[in-house]
Amino acid sequence: MRTVINVSNRLPVTIGPEITPSSGGLVSAMENLGAKVQLKWIGWAGGHITDPAEKEHVIEELKKRFNYFPIFLDDDDASDYYDGFSNSTMWPLLHYMNTYSRYRIQWYEAYQRVNRIFAEEVMAHAGPDDMVWVHDYHLMLLPRILHEQRPDLKIGIFLHTPFPPSDIFRCHPNREDLLLGLLGADLIGFQTFGYLRHFRTTVLRVLGIESEMDRIAHDQYTTALGVYPIGINVEKFKQEIQSASFARRLAEYRQVYSGKRVVLGVERLDYTKGIPHRLDAIERFLGQRQDRDDIVFIFISVPSREDVAAYQTLLEQVRGRISQINGKYSTIKNVPLRFMHRSVSFSQLCALYALADVCMVTPLVDGMNLVAKEYAYCQTENKGVLILSEFAGTAQELPDAMIINPYHVGQMAECLQEALTMSDEEKIQRMASMRARVMRFDATHWADAFLADLEACKGKAALPTDVPTISMKDVTELVAASRAALFLDYDGTLSELRKKPMEAFPKGDIETLFDNLMSDTGLDVYIISGRSQKDMLRWFGRYDFALVSEHGFSYRLSPQEDWVLSDPTANLSWMDKIIEIFNHYADMTPGSAVEVKRASVVWHYRESDPEFGVWKANQLVADLSEMVSNLPVKINHGKKIVEASSMQINKGSMMTALMERRSYDKALCAGDDDTDENMFRVAGERVISIKVGEGSTAARFRSPDPQAFRNFLEALVEARRRRAQ
Ligand code: UDP
Ligand code: G6P
Repeated sequence: MRTVINVSNRLPVTIGPEITPSSGGLVSAMENLGAKVQLKWIGWAGGHITDPAEKEHVIEELKKRFNYFPIFLDDDDASDYYDGFSNSTMWPLLHYMNTYSRYRIQWYEAYQRVNRIFAEEVMAHAGPDDMVWVHDYHLMLLPRILHEQRPDLKIGIFLHTPFPPSDIFRCHPNREDLLLGLLGADLIGFQTFGYLRHFRTTVLRVLGIESEMDRIAHDQYTTALGVYPIGINVEKFKQEIQSASFARRLAEYRQVYSGKRVVLGVERLDYTKGIPHRLDAIERFLGQRQDRDDIVFIFISVPSREDVAAYQTLLEQVRGRISQINGKYSTIKNVPLRFMHRSVSFSQLCALYALADVCMVTPLVDGMNLVAKEYAYCQTENKGVLILSEFAGTAQELPDAMIINPYHVGQMAECLQEALTMSDEEKIQRMASMRARVMRFDATHWADAFLADLEACKGKAALPTDVPTISMKDVTELVAASRAALFLDYDGTLSELRKKPMEAFPKGDIETLFDNLMSDTGLDVYIISGRSQKDMLRWFGRYDFALVSEHGFSYRLSPQEDWVLSDPTANLSWMDKIIEIFNHYADMTPGSAVEVKRASVVWHYRESDPEFGVWKANQLVADLSEMVSNLPVKINHGKKIVEASSMQINKGSMMTALMERRSYDKALCAGDDDTDENMFRVAGERVISIKVGEGSTAARFRSPDPQAFRNFLEALVEARRRRAQ
C-alpha cells in the first residue's frame, strides 16, 4: 500500500490539556481515502510547549492515535512565519489585494526556516515509494527543498487559495524563489482553471519559462498542472442532518424565528470575504423596504488571525457598521442584524444552513468557498436561495446560484429582494441541481483525483528517453582517434541562452574550457554558429579554433587564414525585401530588433512581451511563407527568433565539406536548435551527434543543458590529455 505523507500548516488537532481532533474538509477527504493509502500527516502543532516531557508525550500520543507528526515552532518563528509572511504578505497578495500586503525580510527568513523544518520532518518519514502531498501557501518553498534532497520522491502541492494575475504576483520581492519553490513539485493543483492560467502566465513573465496547458517543462523535468475543485465532507453532513438531534434543533430555531425570513452569512472574519460590501447592500435593501420586522440577517463571523493588524481593523469596521445599521433600522419588534463573532458547533451550523431562506456568500475573491456548498447540501427541501459572488471559485461549479458582483451594491440589494420573492418552483430547480453536484464531487472525490494524477506523473525525467544521455563510454573511439574534430554550436550549446544576445560572450568556465581545448588535446575545434563574422572574431578570435559563421555562409580555418565564402554563387537577392518586412515587424513589436547578417536576417523578440512576441512571430512566419515560396530562402522560427537564411547554405553541408577536407577519423557535433539538426542528419558512423537540451532530435545522444555539456567536454579534454601522455 502506498504511503501518502500529507503536509499542511496545521495538524487537524487542538492541543490543550487534552488532544482534540478537528474535522475540516481536508481531514475527511484524507480519512475517506481509507484502505487505499497509508496516511502520515505532518503539521504545526499550534501552541508552544516548553516542557520536554510534555512535548514527548504529545508526540507519542499523536503518533499512536492518529499517525500525526507535529512540528513545534518557537514563538518568534511562529509569529514571523504565520502572522507575518503567510498571512500578512502572501494571503493578501494571493487574493489580488497587494495593497494589503506587508513585507519584512525577517518574515521571509522565518518562512524559509520553517519550510526547511517541515522538509526535515518529511525526510525523516518518507520511504522510497512514498508520495508527499503539500497543502497551501504556507509551504510554497517546500516542494523544491524536498526535490533537491530527494529527487526520487513524488511531490504534489495543492493551492487552496486563488493564484493572482501575473501583474500582482510580480510585485512580490521573492517572486522567483516562490515560483521555483512550487516548481519543485511533480504536480501543482489549483481550485479553478483561472488560477492555473494565472500561474502559467506568471511563470512565463517572471521566470521566462513557457508551458503547455497542463505542464511546465523546466530544469530537466516537468511539473504537471491540474484543476481540482475541493468538495465538502458529504458523509459527515449526511449523518448530522439525518440525526434526531438535528431535527430537534431545527424545530427549535424555526420556532425562535417564526414569522421571519432568515438570511445567513458564515465565514471567517476576513477582508477577502466582502463583509463591508454586503453590509452596504443590506443597508440599501433595508432602506428600500417598508416592513422591516420580518427579516433577520445572521452573521457568523469566525474569529481568524487575530494577531494580524488588518483583521483587527476589519473587526472594528464591521462592528461599527453593524451597530450603525441596527441603530437605523431596528424596531421595537425586530433587530435586523445578529452578529456573532465566534464559531458555532457543527450541529448548530447545519441547523442554521437548513433554516436559512437565503445564504449570502459574497467574497471579493475566494479560492473555493465551502460554505456555499455546505448550505446547498443542507437545503434538503431545496427551498433556500444561494446568493454567490462570481469571484468565489465555487461560482464556476454552481452556476445555478444567483451569481452577483459583490462590488455592485445595488445589484446585491436587488438580488436579495428577488431571492426573497422567488417562486418555490425556481428555488427547487436551482437548488436540486446544485445539491446533486455537491454530492457527487465531494472531498473524497477531490483527494482521489489529485492523488491519482500525482501517482500518474511520469516523475522528474522529462527528457525523452529514446535518446540516451552522452557519457564518456560513448566517446572511447573519439578519445583514441588520431585525427579528430569537434563541431560545436555556441548559443544554447556551449553557452546558456541570454536575454540579450550580446550578453552571451564567453566568460568564466566557458573561457577555461576554451583554454583547455586549445592545449595538447590534438582536437580540431570548429565553432559553427549562426552568428556573424564580426561577433565570432570578437569572441573567439583569440583561440586557435576554426570559425564558421552564419550557419555555414563563410568560414575561417585558422587565425592565420582569411574568411572564405562557402558558396560564392549563393543567391542573396531576396535580402532587401525580407529586411523591409522584418523592420516592419520590429516597429510593431516593442522590445524586438532586426539583425542583418551577410546571408541571413534575424528578428529577435526575446525582450518583447512573451505572449505578444510569439503572436507576432507566428504572424511573421505566416506572411513570409507565402512570400518566399519561390525564393531560395528558408525560414526558421527558433528560440525567440525568426530567421531567414539562404537555402543553399546550412551547417550540415558545411560540416560534411570540412570532414572531407581534413579526412577526420572521428568527430563530434553538438547543437541545441533546428539549424543544428542539419548536422545531426548528415552525421554518419564517424560523427557522434549530441543534442543539448530538450526537444525531438535526429542526434544519437543528448546532453541536458549547456552546463552539463561543458562538463562533458572538460572530461573529454582530460581523457585526450591522458591518452597523449
Ligand atoms: N466553519 C466552522 N465553524 C463555524 C463556521 C464555519 O468550522 O463556526 C467552517 C465551515 O463549515 C467551512 C469552513 O469553516 O467548512 C470555511 O471554509 P471556506 O472554504 O468557506 O472558507 P475559508 O475559511 O477556508 O477561507
Ligand atoms: C484558508 C486557507 C487554509 C487555512 C484556513 C484557515 O482556507 O486556505 O490553509 O487553514 O483558511 O485559516 P487559519 O489561518 O486559521 O489556518
